Amino acid sequence: MTFTNEQLAQALRLDAYPRSAQYDPQWVMCNLMGPNPLWLAEALCERLELRPGMRVLDMGCGKALTSIFLAREFGVQVWANDLWISATENWGRIRAAGLESSVFPIHAEAHALPYAEGFFDAIVSVDAYHYFGTDDLYIGEITRFLRPGGAIGVVSPGLSEEFDVTPEHLQPHWEWDFVSFHSPAWWSRHWARTGKVQVECADLLPDGWKHWLYWLEICEAAGAHRAPDEAAMLRADAGHTLGFARIVARKV
Ligand SMILES: C[S@@+](CC[C@H](N)C(=O)[O-])C[C@H]1O[C@@H](n2cnc3c(N)ncnc32)[C@H](O)[C@@H]1O
Repeated sequence: MTFTNEQLAQALRLDAYPRSAQYDPQWVMCNLMGPNPLWLAEALCERLELRPGMRVLDMGCGKALTSIFLAREFGVQVWANDLWISATENWGRIRAAGLESSVFPIHAEAHALPYAEGFFDAIVSVDAYHYFGTDDLYIGEITRFLRPGGAIGVVSPGLSEEFDVTPEHLQPHWEWDFVSFHSPAWWSRHWARTGKVQVECADLLPDGWKHWLYWLEICEAAGAHRAPDEAAMLRADAGHTLGFARIVARKV
């Protein structure tokens, strides 16, 4: 199926994400690295307050779409930090968006971050934290860069509850590295027991799995991206197990 830009914009206009609906769908699809990053960032900001002028670290920003979105929507300054995507590539997108004075591309590994301690007012991570943040010590490591009282917010693929044996209906689709998907309760305990942060929100995004599947279906129909096994897995699961975990906490 081919879409005009207007048809694509219409298809991607969901009531849950009014801010994201203002963005060019071709721009989002041409730079996608997984689920719609603007939808996930918008959902995160329902629980994490950003105010103009704040310094925000976008960890695992990928192609910096979320960094551009946060700077535009909330008037914050964003350090767009990624590993797989170079700072030079992201600088091109930031310049094209006219945000040279508020979004700063950085190429750095999550365990070797080049920032001053206490520098950021907020740290966000969309569809990335589960790649580097599941070890016990990481929340203590990353919150070094957050000022006391600053917030950290993550949205990542997650589970409604933990399991040791993969549910039968997921087995045909399961990849070994999905072990890094965890439930909101798991993340909440994982962070809270360090004493480094106070958890303010730990839930699954409402209708997260439906939006995830819908995004895959539209991407496939538009010829932008095919992930038939991922879509089949979400259909088979129908929201029983999979979704997006959203965790927001404040540095104590
Ligand atoms: C699935 S992509 C998501 C990118 C972007 N947040 C989005 O939603 O479009 C995951 C991102 O996590 C980043 N990442 C993975 N491991 C990392 C690490 N050890 N340090 C820094 N970034 C990492 C990758 O560079 C990649 O861009």
